[in-house]
Amino acid sequence: MDSKIKTLEEKIAKAKLGGGEQRIQRQHQNKKLTARERVEYLLDEGSFEEIGILVTHRTTDFGMDKELFYGDGVVTGYGTINGRLVYIFAQDFTVFGGALSETHAEKICKVMDMAVKMGAPMIGLNDSGGARIQEGVKSLGGYADIFHRNVQTSGVIPQISAIMGPCAGGAVYSPAMTDFTLMVEDTSYMFVTGPNVVKTVTNEEVTSEELGGASTHATKSGVAHITSANDIECLEDIKKLLSYLPQNNQEPPKQIPYTLTDELREQLANIVPDNPNKPYDMHDVIGGIIDEDSFYEIHKDYAENIIVGFARIGGKSVGIVANQPLFLAGVLDVNSSKKAARFTRFCDCFNIPLLVLVDVPGFLPGTDQEWNGIIVHGAKLLYALSEATVPKVTVITRKAYGGAYDVMNSKHIGADLNFAWPNAEIAVMGAKGASEIIFRKEIKASDDPEAKLAEKEAEYADKFANPYRAAQRGFIDEVILPENTRRKLIKAFSMLENKKIEQPKRKHGNIPL
Ligand code: COA
Repeated sequence: MDSKIKTLEEKIAKAKLGGGEQRIQRQHQNKKLTARERVEYLLDEGSFEEIGILVTHRTTDFGMDKELFYGDGVVTGYGTINGRLVYIFAQDFTVFGGALSETHAEKICKVMDMAVKMGAPMIGLNDSGGARIQEGVKSLGGYADIFHRNVQTSGVIPQISAIMGPCAGGAVYSPAMTDFTLMVEDTSYMFVTGPNVVKTVTNEEVTSEELGGASTHATKSGVAHITSANDIECLEDIKKLLSYLPQNNQEPPKQIPYTLTDELREQLANIVPDNPNKPYDMHDVIGGIIDEDSFYEIHKDYAENIIVGFARIGGKSVGIVANQPLFLAGVLDVNSSKKAARFTRFCDCFNIPLLVLVDVPGFLPGTDQEWNGIIVHGAKLLYALSEATVPKVTVITRKAYGGAYDVMNSKHIGADLNFAWPNAEIAVMGAKGASEIIFRKEIKASDDPEAKLAEKEAEYADKFANPYRAAQRGFIDEVILPENTRRKLIKAFSMLENKKIEQPKRKHGNIPL
């Protein structure tokens, strides 16, 4: 028996060494943790149970039968984060550069299947040279097996991808189909084809970092939802993100104990400037409404004219979608619509109530927007908010103009409670533009057209630049004082907790893509 135990121990020890000391050192020199170190750090101490540690690949071509590494380049298993079950895979760059073989893919699929059966989040830590070149189509098949599971699993359990090294070619499509993609600055990149192929095909010279580094994807493409300075911060970000989410689509998000004290927030009364053309930072409004320091922003550096992220209100998770007057006056455009629509749909999949804060002058005009399909992309946000069946509450902090009024969680598209602050302006358009159109003849005929325009503008503003027409109609449920907003929202979300909507039978809707 002793010798059998020794054999087992030797195998396990060998497996834990991955590609060997030298390659581990290289990983560290490149400012990266190894797959096992990442798993150990991410999961609660001692909670990780590995599955498939002794798996090896089955390839014999190119002398591969002599190059066998236990685990085959990926560490898979389960454990807990803050006491809650999660499934995980972590690609081991020290073994064939973390490249994906048929067996490597089988290991990932196995834990994905378990995560769905047990209803727990799936976390992938990606660090890989892509398809294992020695295996050819078998490895491509392995990718597709994972992609298919990503899709089948979407909306059932949360799926989180961290990119902690290379992620190129077909490999990028698994993260793209998960709910959140995190990237580590300077050590990770994602692209469909690398700089060499780009140079050959388009003659364009670009570095890996410019083409697909963390900052590129966080600011330009929006592929990365969150970027972190290093491996440790990235793993901390995963923990934080999970703290707002339920385990699966059948559960409510985890609620943390919260004692209500005085919920008046005086500072909210002083955020919006008297001059409606002056910007302000919607983060200040968010900070004034939510439980202290509970905001976790997603897509922080992308399409900054809209803010999305998770927060807690009275201990409960909410998803916040908010126009940001500080950038482009908070206008809706292609990127902000896509960003907010995606976030809204995530919240709806996982029973996270939505709070929409509105200060929107309309959609961004111009050929760039029209030619890039603002009609269809704006429609995404309209569709997403309209189809969401979770509790939906709106607060109009200032402007709600034109079609954007409808889009931003108006009563008409199914919002449950719509509040407006007393300074809100709810109208088809701003007073100046409106007057120029409807009083054109009168202004033209006047001896002093400028004075006439000012007079008409004032008349229009008086009639429409307020929340009362909408309140008379019941489109606004209540005009509230800013300082009372938090109090109102705590009550609103608590009242809406058991909201249920029966949907007519259909296969799935057809969101404009
Ligand atoms: N298949 C098999 N082995 C691979 C591999 C792949 N796709 N990608 C990397 N490796 C192996 C390397 O042969 C090397 O093995 P070794 O440790 O035995 O020497 C090891 O992984 C590390 O790769 P290396 O190139 O030394 O690391 P690097 O940090 O300098 O570069 C990459 C990393 C990913 C940029 C580079 O390896 C690469 O371009 N790989 C191929 C990417 C690709 O085209 N994939 C297929 C299309 S999806």
